[in-house]
Amino acid sequence: MKILLTGAAGFIGSHTAVELTRKGHDVVGVDNMNSYYDPSLKKARLAYVRKCARSSKGTFSFTQKDIADLEAMDRIFKAGKFDKVCNLAAQAGVRYSFENPSSYIHSNIIGFFNILELCCKYNVKHLVYASSSSVYGNNAKVPFEEEDRTDDPQSLYAATKKSNELMAHVYTHQRNLPATGLRFFTVYGPWGRPDMAPFKFMKKVLGDEPIDVYNRGNLSRDFSYIDDIVKGIVAVIEGPAKSKHPVYNIGNSSPVQLMDFIRTIEKTAGKKAKKVMKGMQRGDVYTTFASTLHLEEDYAFRPGTPLEKGIAEFYNWYKDFYKI
Ligand SMILES: NC(=O)c1ccc[n+]([C@@H]2O[C@H](COP(=O)([O-])OP(=O)(O)OC[C@H]3O[C@@H](n4cnc5c(N)ncnc54)[C@H](O)[C@@H]3O)[C@@H](O)[C@H]2O)c1
Repeated sequence: MKILLTGAAGFIGSHTAVELTRKGHDVVGVDNMNSYYDPSLKKARLAYVRKCARSSKGTFSFTQKDIADLEAMDRIFKAGKFDKVCNLAAQAGVRYSFENPSSYIHSNIIGFFNILELCCKYNVKHLVYASSSSVYGNNAKVPFEEEDRTDDPQSLYAATKKSNELMAHVYTHQRNLPATGLRFFTVYGPWGRPDMAPFKFMKKVLGDEPIDVYNRGNLSRDFSYIDDIVKGIVAVIEGPAKSKHPVYNIGNSSPVQLMDFIRTIEKTAGKKAKKVMKGMQRGDVYTTFASTLHLEEDYAFRPGTPLEKGIAEFYNWYKDFYKI
C-alpha cells in the first residue's frame, strides 16, 4: 500500500516507518523536525529508517513539512495517491502544554483538521491517528475502558487529543471517512523521547544526577513497549476499518508503581538513583491502566512485553547511541 506517515521522525513514527517498509509498503514520511526536543535525535532516527528501508521490500521517502500548512500538505496528498494515512504528528507532552499552549492548537487542532480534510478530498481508505491515555484524566475506575467517560481532561494536550477523537467522529459519520483512533499508554524503548520519564531517569541515573520523583512516588503508569505499540498500529493500518470510527486503547494492561519502575532502571543500569521527592505536578494523573479487550477482539493482538525486557532493550540502545 501507499501510506502517508506523519510524525515520521518521531519516536513512534520512526519505528512504525521501519515496520511498514519491512512489510513491503511504500511510505512517505512527513515531519516538521521541530525543536521541542533535540532535532539531532530526529535526524538520527530518519537515518536509521532509511538504512532499514534499503534492505526492505517497501520504500521510504521523507519530506520536511508542517501538517498545519494546508497547501504543502495538499501537494503531498495529490502526488502521493495514498491508500492509507497514519497521523502521528502532534505536539506531545502534558507539562509543555502549560508553557506553550499555542503549539498544541497549531499541530493537534489545525494540523489534524488539515489531515481530515485532505483524507476526504483524496478519498483515503482509512485514517489511523494517535490519541492518548491522557483523555481519561483522573478516571478512578481501572482498567480504563474505551466506553469510560473522557470529559475531564487535566491538560490542554489531553483536550486536543479528545478533540481529535470528536473531529474524526464527525468526519466518519458526516463525510464517510473511515477513521480509527489509538489511545497510546506511556510508550518507551529504543529511540525514545528525551522529555519522558524512562529516558530522563536512565540518563540521570547513568550520569549520577538526581531524579525528581513526583507525588513522592505515589503514581503508577501502564508502561508500553514500543514494539507492541507498533505491532498494534500496523495491524490496524493493514486491516480494514472495523466499524464506524472505533477508538482502541493500546497499552500493556499492567500498571507499574513509579518506585518499582525506578528500581527496574537501577537494576538494569547497575546504579542507585539519587531521588529528590517532589509534590504532584500540574496536569499529571495518578494512574493509567489500559483495558485492551477491544483491540484483542478485533485484531487478535495483545501487548505484553515485560518491563524488565523492555528496559533492558532501551538501556542497550541508550549506551550504544550515546557511546557510554
Ligand atoms: N509516546 C507516548 O507515550 C505517547 C502516548 C500517548 C500518545 N502519544 C501520541 O503519539 C504520537 C507520536 O508520539 P511520539 O511519542 O512519537 O512523539 P514525538 O514527539 O517523538 O513525535 C511526533 C513527531 O511529530 C512531529 N511534529 C509535531 N508537530 C508537527 C507538525 N505540525 N507538522 C509535522 N510534524 C510535526 C515532531 O517533530 C515529532 O517528530 C503523538 O501524536 C503523541 O501525542 C504518544
